[in-house]
Amino acid sequence: MFGDRCDEAESDRILGAAMEQGVTFIDTAASYCNGTTEEILGKIMQGRRDKLFVGTKISKSPDAAWIHECLDESLARLQTEYVDLLMIHWPKPQMNIFAMMEALNSVAEQGKVRYVGCCNFPAWLLAHCNSVAQANGWAKLRCNQIPYNLVERGVEVEVLPQAMAEKIAITVYRPLLMGVLAGKYTPGAPLPVDSRGYNDKRVVDWLERFGDSLNAFARFAADRNLHPAQLAVAWVRKSPGVSHPISGVSSLRQLQASIDAIGVELTDAEYAELTGFFDTAVKEESGGSFVGLRRATDLVAA
Ligand SMILES: NC(=O)c1ccc[n+]([C@@H]2O[C@H](COP(=O)([O-])OP(=O)(O)OC[C@H]3O[C@@H](n4cnc5c(N)ncnc54)[C@H](OP(=O)(O)O)[C@@H]3O)[C@@H](O)[C@H]2O)c1
Repeated sequence: MFGDRCDEAESDRILGAAMEQGVTFIDTAASYCNGTTEEILGKIMQGRRDKLFVGTKISKSPDAAWIHECLDESLARLQTEYVDLLMIHWPKPQMNIFAMMEALNSVAEQGKVRYVGCCNFPAWLLAHCNSVAQANGWAKLRCNQIPYNLVERGVEVEVLPQAMAEKIAITVYRPLLMGVLAGKYTPGAPLPVDSRGYNDKRVVDWLERFGDSLNAFARFAADRNLHPAQLAVAWVRKSPGVSHPISGVSSLRQLQASIDAIGVELTDAEYAELTGFFDTAVKEESGGSFVGLRRATDLVAA
């Protein structure tokens, strides 16, 4: 959100308040706000870099040359000599997996990166990348960052079990369903003009499809005196296979509910009841549709 939904001064306040309360992990990407997010982060984390675990992403393409170039640009914007976690943002049709893993190993050996990982990779692809790394003695992908929440649960089929079996860290994005699970919207009511959903059809679709479920979710939160965002993040945190959620906050005011989720421990019965509000039959893994692919087989070089 830094530079996009909030300016540098508010970003600084958000980072300060988050760190005061024990937050250590910051997620960013080369592409966020065309590099402005990294630039702002670089400025505001001066003097406290060593207290943060910073993850960034190679956006645009996983090509080997681009990994080197893009990382150097990120390091310059972030004003740091290394990032703790470097992720490939998206898989790409016919990506050269050998060259990508070799390049990731190379930047790790150069000390520019502590760990390497990926986002939005189907389980088979992550396993294949790591078998290439293993065969060559290279750094393996240690993290997969994926969307997961009460509505988007496809990763339960393959990605999460794989992560548990192979000890892959799972960082969850969109835990608040872009604000839909954070009390930002009321099903059937006009969208707030200042919201991300105002220009995003996905939000409209979710509100239409899950109106009754969202109302039940809101009542469940109110009955327990919880902020909806607290409940949404607590559900993600309790889900098997999840290492940690990544909440997006557009203002300091929004931060507290996500942080307060850390104090909420749902019982097994509460977790099951919440899950049951949403009719989201888990049939297939994510991993094909999000990269504009017609078929997952397109990911494999012929
Ligand atoms: N790897 C990837 O491909 C990928 C993709 C997407 C995101 N991410 C990462 O994951 C992070 C989170 O994802 P996300 O921002 O898309 O989704 P999210 O965390 O589910 O939703 C964030 C939105 O929820 C609303 N919100 C947050 N706290 C609130 C509160 N207390 N009260 C009311 N509304 C609240 C805000 O909406 P408004 O701004 O409308 O107020 C905010 O922009 C991103 O910042 C990014 O670092 C990674």
